[in-house]
Amino acid sequence: MIKTTTKETLDAKSEAQRLSFAPVVFQTIHCLIKFNVLEVLHANRKQGIGKDGLLQEVNISDYGLGVLLEMGLLADIVKFEDDKYHLTKVGYFLLKDPMTKANFDFVRDVCYQGLFYLDDSIEKGKPEGLKVFGEWPTIYEGLSQLPPKIQDSWFKFDHFYSDDSFRDALKIVFENGPKHILDVGGNTGKFTRKCCEYDSNVQVSILDLPGQLKMAAENIEEWGYTKRVNFVPTNVLSPELPFPNGDAIWMSQFLDCFSKEQVVSILSHAKKSMTKATDLYIMETFWDNQEFDAAGFSVAATSLYFTAMANGNSKMYGLEEFEQLVEDAGLEVVKRHAIVGISHTILHCKLA
Ligand SMILES: C[S@@+](CC[C@H](N)C(=O)[O-])C[C@H]1O[C@@H](n2cnc3c(N)ncnc32)[C@H](O)[C@@H]1O
Repeated sequence: MIKTTTKETLDAKSEAQRLSFAPVVFQTIHCLIKFNVLEVLHANRKQGIGKDGLLQEVNISDYGLGVLLEMGLLADIVKFEDDKYHLTKVGYFLLKDPMTKANFDFVRDVCYQGLFYLDDSIEKGKPEGLKVFGEWPTIYEGLSQLPPKIQDSWFKFDHFYSDDSFRDALKIVFENGPKHILDVGGNTGKFTRKCCEYDSNVQVSILDLPGQLKMAAENIEEWGYTKRVNFVPTNVLSPELPFPNGDAIWMSQFLDCFSKEQVVSILSHAKKSMTKATDLYIMETFWDNQEFDAAGFSVAATSLYFTAMANGNSKMYGLEEFEQLVEDAGLEVVKRHAIVGISHTILHCKLA
């Protein structure tokens, strides 16, 4: 009897090999960029370039260039036609696309080493990978002390997504004319700055961990808004202090830093400072509320950063899963704004 293998089976087995070697391809991409190979291919995009020509332009050995190009060929990053190497479309995006760069650098600099401890992290419910950078219970206590390159990639990843949404978000947050906004988890103060620019009378209070607030305060001073911004040192996980009273409460890419139980507890705590008139806006990337499959994939992958590096117990939530937590805290989603920016949804909430 002749054994037949269907195309579907072959494709599935091929995909399984690609996934098995995925970290090898990942590091190859890093080298192709670091050693300038992709940039030289891009500069020679019209006519292509042979291996000898490439060798003259990059500062690595014939052997080194050879193994990188061979992997690059089979991973569809470069192609070889008419005795010349060329960049593929995938190679182009890896080299030039800002979103791909933000994602790639975040995964390599912040996550790669620590992800080796993903299994321990899942077993212990703690971010066991974080030890590659220091001994903090969560990455947030260590954020202001991370090595500069790591910190830079963390901020660029975080800001790439939130910055893009801020323009649309401002219109939503200011729709009811708030005079005092709480920017909970305000981080570097970027959204607070946008609020101050948007409305010349608004006051903003940034609530964040003390180390992070110091960074925010330096930025706000540089931007000239110190008189309109209050800095409120807060650990929302041990909330002795009540939230200040605000007309609008803004939580952007914040609640994904906490477990389900913690989200309910934080929202219940926030609720104590709310009246019927208070608007609470939550901006999140929900993995199952994305326009493109690749976005859902990236958002779901980011959950594993939370598992191994950030805190061991949080994630990027699904939309309905998250709305249930809002309801459990005694709040009501009065409006869903989807999609804001590249991948966010804003939930407008009120007291139930
Ligand atoms: C992912 S960043 C979000 C930054 C910003 N809101 C944005 O949209 O780009 C999460 C922020 O939450 C803060 N944070 C984390 N844990 C916290 C805690 N227990 N109490 C207060 N702030 C916390 C972090 O310091 C950080 O600034």
